[in-house]
Amino acid sequence: MQISRLAVAYLAVVVPASCQLDKLAKAAGLQYFGTAIDNPSLNNQNYMRVARDISEFGSITPANGQKWSNTQPSQGRFSYTSGDSIANIAKQSGQQLRCHTLVWYNQLPGWVSSVYGKDQMQRIITAHIQNVAGHYKGQCTHWDVVNEAMEDDGRYRNNPMYRAMGVDYITHAFKTTAQTDPAARLYYNDFNIERCCNAKINATLSMLKTVISAGAPIHGVGMQGHSRVGKSPSKREMKETMAKFGELVDEVAFTEVDIRHTKLPTTAADRDQQALDYVEVVGACLETPKCVGITVWDFTDQYSWIPGQYPGEGEACLWDRNYNKKPAYTAIVNLLQSAASSGLRASATPSSFR
Ligand code: G3I
Repeated sequence: MQISRLAVAYLAVVVPASCQLDKLAKAAGLQYFGTAIDNPSLNNQNYMRVARDISEFGSITPANGQKWSNTQPSQGRFSYTSGDSIANIAKQSGQQLRCHTLVWYNQLPGWVSSVYGKDQMQRIITAHIQNVAGHYKGQCTHWDVVNEAMEDDGRYRNNPMYRAMGVDYITHAFKTTAQTDPAARLYYNDFNIERCCNAKINATLSMLKTVISAGAPIHGVGMQGHSRVGKSPSKREMKETMAKFGELVDEVAFTEVDIRHTKLPTTAADRDQQALDYVEVVGACLETPKCVGITVWDFTDQYSWIPGQYPGEGEACLWDRNYNKKPAYTAIVNLLQSAASSGLRASATPSSFR
């Protein structure tokens, strides 16, 4: 793949130690640069030193702790141990908490799958959201209310909630979350909705129109941003997609970014390409007035979910497994720095965020 001269500049500049991701993202006009963190890493001091560093990460997302299988493993028995461990870190460090996720087909306990009646499912979703969003009320800047409701081919995902309630489950989940935690920004979140404009994006736009006209209070769309080095969507493609979502909602964000190598071990050229791919994502957000922030799906290869799910692939994060920053980190910092000094977003940030 061709590396442009401008891109090489992002890779080449040496980054002063004081320049860090969240600090620069805010200087450049974003609301936050965040990371997901997961419970198994919490007793690792090297990990926690970076995770708690508010100049790197202004926002934390629990990678698993708030999911249904953790929060309500059996009906009516709620547990917040895993989610609270991470929420407390954010609180102690002065970081925002980006909450994830209330209604998702995956990591859904078996008992929910055996619910078939519409009214019964509606009551179950109501109880789940009232309890979980109620427990975290006032702590979550954002909630991923519904996650991954669409298939890649554009059909609604045939999950237990959809089978029982049709598309109404989405509307109901958003209404219930808004009633429970009116201050949180409520998101629809999905993967493979970055590259304009595939069947899934078109179907997602149409689903959003349907549920918004049925009264679903949706503030934002989260584009997860999982992709592969050298095959990531371009800045232009992502901006085009965000412009379309932006016609329907107040804000958009990259919510789970990681860019994995499909062949390991990597070469220096592979790592430079990964840096350029990350720069495209951050650039797309900076150049989209409604894009409020970027979250990476963990920051070190030591705890990335990728090798578990895609054996032979990985090294998708900004820090390697020994906590060395990669070219991708440096390239992002350089881009944020130049965006901050050029005032790129000064007039573009929506007034409600100033
Ligand atoms: O909790 C069990 C533990 O008891 C058991 O010993 C262990 C053995 O494998 O598994 C543990 O569960 C794992 C769980 O993460 C908690 O660590 C599951 O196997 C594992 O599949 C699960 O993976 C998570 C994945 O969602 C599930 O789909 C990843 O950590 C998490 O990063 C990932 O996050 C998702 C987002 O929520 C939505 N978007 C895609 C993203 C990546 O898949």
